[in-house]
Amino acid sequence: MFIADQLENKKILITGGAGFIGSSLAFYFQTYHPQAEVVVLDKFRSGETFPSGNLISLGHFKNLIGFRGRVICADINDAKKMNKIFEEKFDYVFHQAAISDTTVMNQEIVMQTNHDAFLHLLHLTLNGGGKMIYASSAGTYGNSPAPNCIGVGEIPENVYGFSKLCMDESVRGILAQNQDAHIVGLRYFNVYGEREFYKGKTASMILQLGLQAMHHKKVRLFKHGEQKRDFVYIQDVIQANVKAMEAQKSGVYNVGSGEARCFNDILKCLKTHLGEFDVEYIDNPYAFYQNHTEADISLSQKFLNYQPKFSLEEGISAYIQEIKEIYAREKKCL
Ligand SMILES: NC(=O)c1ccc[n+]([C@@H]2O[C@H](COP(=O)([O-])OP(=O)(O)OC[C@H]3O[C@@H](n4cnc5c(N)ncnc54)[C@H](O)[C@@H]3O)[C@@H](O)[C@H]2O)c1
Repeated sequence: MFIADQLENKKILITGGAGFIGSSLAFYFQTYHPQAEVVVLDKFRSGETFPSGNLISLGHFKNLIGFRGRVICADINDAKKMNKIFEEKFDYVFHQAAISDTTVMNQEIVMQTNHDAFLHLLHLTLNGGGKMIYASSAGTYGNSPAPNCIGVGEIPENVYGFSKLCMDESVRGILAQNQDAHIVGLRYFNVYGEREFYKGKTASMILQLGLQAMHHKKVRLFKHGEQKRDFVYIQDVIQANVKAMEAQKSGVYNVGSGEARCFNDILKCLKTHLGEFDVEYIDNPYAFYQNHTEADISLSQKFLNYQPKFSLEEGISAYIQEIKEIYAREKKCL
């Protein structure tokens, strides 16, 4: 439990609650704050895809099996429906719903879903007297030099990162006018952990490499596996969200482990759990590819009291059992 408040009779809305991070939050509150009323809202998957073949929305009912709260199936772009849903007042809104696929090229749908719909929900939340905690992204930094500090090098390389930066800029504008509003944006870095399986090709490299190693005894990495990322375990992301409920100061914060690790480090950790496997280094076809991301978490530590607890080794150790179970399920279906 990350905060002292029991949240008795408090109403919490989690948008994107059938996704990876949203469903993890829903179960956190169900377990540690059973007196709170938790409502999950998600569009769920329909089978509709982008030209890449990736699904337009990734929410999956299986992420919510065991969740006993209310579930609403709705599209955040449906303003009328959102107005109706928000006739009920929420004390806290954890806004995770988004097109989370960073490779989507359709700028219109990304901007509408990630930015415009968010702004509408933000106004509804604040008008109802609620607090907003929302998912931003390290994508706002593009390929700027690490460590990535809030307010520095905010130069996204794709429309996904741009849409998240627009969210943050809109919030900065609102906070400049209204310092009493409780709005906290969390720039997640590379999140991994339980319940990410249904993200498919957009799931973390930790899951993808773990499954490749078990299926083929061989994994593929872009040459030469030395690109660095700030990999952050889901439990630390939950901690940041929950602590944001009692943030000393509204604003935008980084959520990472605070340490950059390379893809070869992931392989080293996986080998300690799965035994030896081969690595093939292949050419990187992408013109844009981040070489080094690393969250400067000093502001998050100071104003959110955020303290990441999981190193890459500890996070993978905690997660490996689920990766093995996913593999066993996949193998049965082959
Ligand atoms: N996982 C990461 O590494 C990471 C990193 C940075 C930022 N983020 C952000 O964190 C949030 C959660 O990401 P996630 O990894 O859980 O992804 P996810 O795709 O599993 O979750 C997003 C959820 O939003 C839902 N959704 C999409 N469009 C919707 C719409 N129009 N109306 C209602 N629901 C809709 C999806 O169905 C899905 O369940 C997203 O905002 C994402 O951009 C994630």
